[in-house]
Amino acid sequence: MSPEMHKTWEAACLSRQRSYSPYSHFAVGAALKIRNSDLSIGGCNVENASYGGTVCAERSAVFSAVSQGYQDFEFLIVVTDAEPPAVPCAFCLGVLAEFCPPDFPVHLANLAGVERSYRLDELLPHPFKLL
Ligand code: THU
Repeated sequence: MSPEMHKTWEAACLSRQRSYSPYSHFAVGAALKIRNSDLSIGGCNVENASYGGTVCAERSAVFSAVSQGYQDFEFLIVVTDAEPPAVPCAFCLGVLAEFCPPDFPVHLANLAGVERSYRLDELLPHPFKLL
């Protein structure tokens, strides 16, 4: 792993530790590397007693970054303690497709490091676009 990726993976692991997942007990962390910056912005899954209110880690990271004024991302790392590592759900892929190009790198990791890497368009070949 490059030092840049390692730093973002660490941010995703830290975010995962903040996961609020009392219902599934499935903690997820995600971090977006901000382009032209040392920053990585993280997010975790935040569950809700009304299950549909749950927000995934990937969307938490995107919404946090956009809320802080960042929309240009280099790559995403998602961390779970699962084998094989979890792939972002379709809602999250749609949200990523709003801001990221088809060749955007999505790295799937566990607590040991990055396990698999995909382009966004491999995971979501035909995103919905309104504009
Ligand atoms: N989850 C994520 O955070 N990201 C995904 O891409 C898939 C699922 C969360 C939602 C819920 O809190 C838990 O994992 C179990 O579905």
